[in-house]
Amino acid sequence: MTEGRHRLLVGSANPGKLREYREILSGLDLELVTPTDLDPVPPEPAEDAASFAENAIAKARAYAAASGLQTIADDSGLEVFALRGAPGVRSRRYFGEDVSPEERNARLLALLEGVQDRSARFVCVIALATPDGHVELFDGEVHGEIAEAPRGDGGFGYDPVFVIAGDGRTMAELTAEEKHRVSHRGLAGAKLRARLAGGV
Ligand code: IMP
Repeated sequence: MTEGRHRLLVGSANPGKLREYREILSGLDLELVTPTDLDPVPPEPAEDAASFAENAIAKARAYAAASGLQTIADDSGLEVFALRGAPGVRSRRYFGEDVSPEERNARLLALLEGVQDRSARFVCVIALATPDGHVELFDGEVHGEIAEAPRGDGGFGYDPVFVIAGDGRTMAELTAEEKHRVSHRGLAGAKLRARLAGGV
């Protein structure tokens, strides 16, 4: 890490998201830092708004104000048509607080047992905030359907049960690079990357 490089805080405690942002933003002249790199570690902001955008804005602003750093935060999730958009903004907690990703996927598949229309989409909104509260948004989405059974061991979260439209593989069957080319986070991240590459 070169001293004096611009520092960008990736405001997330989710190891899957942190890994993906390191990949998506690699090669930019930026030092990426995470909340646990900071002393004191900023508290994890609440995530109780009704939309991805509002949650992303609230998280990015809270982390930026607490750290004094330019910050990105992403709010993302899976919307299943037959469940009227659930798990949606509550994707992390919908099946309970201390439920493993495998168990969440099993519960989602159980909910959809016998359901014909399994269409779904992943949504990601990234907020880029300055410590004084200025915010810009970048978004992305990917369409697909919920698989009959989990497949693949890449990615994280709901990736093993999300079949990409027009591809047939689950998100967890892609390499990281392939995932970023098609995923909600990869598409939103490409817009963010272009913005950051143009000067921070
Ligand atoms: P949050 O944005 O921290 O509320 O959490 C988003 C949740 O949505 C994650 O914990 C996952 O359950 C799910 N999610 C978001 N993005 C992805 C993804 O790229 N793959 C699989 N699951 C995801």
